[in-house]
Amino acid sequence: MVEKLEQNKVEKLEQNKKVIFSGIQPSGELTLGNYLGALKNWVKLQHEYDCYFCVVDLHAITVKQEPKDLRRRTLEVMAIYIAAGIDPEKSTIFIQSHVAEHTELAWLLNCYSYVGELNRMTQFKDKSSKYGSSVSAGLLNYPVLMAADILLYQTDLVPVGIDQKQHLELTRDLAERFNNAYSPTFKIPEPYIPEKGAKIMSLQEPEKKMSKSSDNPNSFILIMDPPEVIRKKISRAVTDSLGIVKYSDNQPGVKNLMIILNTLTGESIEAIEKKYEGQGYAKFKEDVAEAIVNELKPIQDKVKNLTTDKAYLESIYKEGAKRASYIANKTLRKVQKKIGFIPVSK
Ligand code: TYM
Repeated sequence: MVEKLEQNKVEKLEQNKKVIFSGIQPSGELTLGNYLGALKNWVKLQHEYDCYFCVVDLHAITVKQEPKDLRRRTLEVMAIYIAAGIDPEKSTIFIQSHVAEHTELAWLLNCYSYVGELNRMTQFKDKSSKYGSSVSAGLLNYPVLMAADILLYQTDLVPVGIDQKQHLELTRDLAERFNNAYSPTFKIPEPYIPEKGAKIMSLQEPEKKMSKSSDNPNSFILIMDPPEVIRKKISRAVTDSLGIVKYSDNQPGVKNLMIILNTLTGESIEAIEKKYEGQGYAKFKEDVAEAIVNELKPIQDKVKNLTTDKAYLESIYKEGAKRASYIANKTLRKVQKKIGFIPVSK
């Protein structure tokens, strides 16, 4: 195994590929927002980079999870990665809790993080207002675990939606703080935020982000929604009374649907405006729904096959965890040494 890992490493060094790390929480069913903001870009980037794609189950338990749902979704998220086009031969796909270095580095980095900066994270402020006094300490420390995820792999690029930008900035601050306190240890990662699709909005309240934790199922499209459900949800999507397909901040519902169509079909915004001129919204909405169905249906079919093949998924996450641990452990050892811990004797 070690020989194979060494060989892998040598090949990667020879290719001199930069490193990508990203992840999705198995805290709810994945949405079209997760797909367009993150996953679709991972698929595009995977050939140029040495990629680590993680199912971040440790992040998911910052809010209450039903154990059997968490188990099912963790495997389903992995299956979605593969079905969407991530090649497990090229990229390292793994489950976060299988690589203990994530929790260990998170603890160490917690000791270099300020409560004030964590309190200022907008996602924490939003979520803590929802949970009141029973908000978990895990939710406050969540971005530190995310920083550990990224920094363990000496990551160059992190492809995420815009809602993760602030967490990326904190990751960079923590890395710089540690590097300055000791000596260069961590690579400073850059975010990769797509120009369009970085924030897919709710279909019911288009001024809010489409979110898997919303209480209203009409507000989001799930990656696994059947075609007839997708069509229904899009036909019910909130637009406006103007009846013009135009890319404008005054028409947030229409703008969101245009972005979805543009990111799925590649048709330019100008071409979309022209195509539906003088036609109202009915045909436009139908076409948006078809574009989503065309993209998601083949993925859904593959996911259904993959989730019945537990042995295959197990072989992927076992190999992934070995590959990830090898790199993660090297970084962690370096960090422990710099802090002044006594190395474990062999
Ligand atoms: P999560 O699980 O909330 O979302 C996963 C990815 O989907 C993106 N996303 C969206 N993009 C566009 N429009 C939307 N409506 C939308 N909703 C979600 C997110 O930006 C994200 O890229 N903390 C992270 C998971 C994480 C992580 C990491 C990411 C943990 N460690 C290290 C990158 C690197 C999260 O909660 O994502």
